Amino acid sequence: MTIDSAFPSQRYAKVIQASKRVHWEIDRDLMRGRSFDMTRKFLPDGLSLVGELPFLTASEQRLFSQVQGRTYANLFGLVERFISAKMCEIGGAHALGDQAAFEALLRFTAEELKHQELFRRIETMLGEQMGGAYASAAQPDAVAGVVLGKRTWAVLGLTTHIELFVLAHYRCSIDPDADIDPLWKDVFRYHWIDEAQHAVLDELEWLREDAKLSDVERDAAVDDLIALVGAVDRILQGQAEVDAACFLAMAGPRFDAGQRRRVGEAMLKAYRWQYIVSGVMEPRFRKTLFGIVSETQRRRIEKALLPLAYAVPATPAMALPMAA
Ligand SMILES: [Fe+2]
Ligand SMILES: [Fe+2]
Repeated sequence: MTIDSAFPSQRYAKVIQASKRVHWEIDRDLMRGRSFDMTRKFLPDGLSLVGELPFLTASEQRLFSQVQGRTYANLFGLVERFISAKMCEIGGAHALGDQAAFEALLRFTAEELKHQELFRRIETMLGEQMGGAYASAAQPDAVAGVVLGKRTWAVLGLTTHIELFVLAHYRCSIDPDADIDPLWKDVFRYHWIDEAQHAVLDELEWLREDAKLSDVERDAAVDDLIALVGAVDRILQGQAEVDAACFLAMAGPRFDAGQRRRVGEAMLKAYRWQYIVSGVMEPRFRKTLFGIVSETQRRRIEKALLPLAYAVPATPAMALPMAA
């Protein structure tokens, strides 16, 4: 079987149909002149891990969720820089072949450009509405420069991981929570609508890339994927430090040294849970990844992830319903 016959045009055509059917515009459909309601929380408790800080008052819990919710939007804008660049490159490789694949990947790229514009708008709005000493710990082009220097197989693996946890977070945690600010929830509902198509294309292109590799090349690509997870973790460490300081400055001086330390630890644990561990536990991602790597490579990946394994919600009620 050739690579093209294993990835038939109809699969891309179905994604194009879905992409056209759900198409939305930032102002017309999503924003509709609204602003964020700062009396409501943003990120749900099962993602923010706010329950690990029982000494917070109700308004401090809300602020903890809002600071993390601001970063949640910011970090998607950040990763979408390398995702759109990679999809544009892969789409270009289809330009003189399967026109449905070419169109599906160009639509994917355009949707990520729209998402980046959306997340930049949100950061500006939240800057005005929230204030505080908030900052981004990493810059999109610098991160994209590092990520795109790795093998395509690894970039597609990281992208599949991200886009599948986007779907899981919305479905299992954001959508069911009735206390979230309606605009913040809508941002991630509209984002989720597009990401459902992106995840299908991620898997198709990752498997297509995998089919081109020799065992030696795949082994090197697994090392690249592990290195990329390490790079993501370094970004999370930097952002958690900035966000803990931002939260503590905005919440006021009442916390003692032990409580301040616990805020920092909970912030980093929550970010590791949100951006790495919840995706690694997502069954669809595990099925694809562990379906294409060898047993030895699987053990190498699991060993690299071991230091992050603590980053899961402390109580089952806060966990996403995922396979371990
Ligand atoms: Fe996106
Ligand atoms: Fe996407």
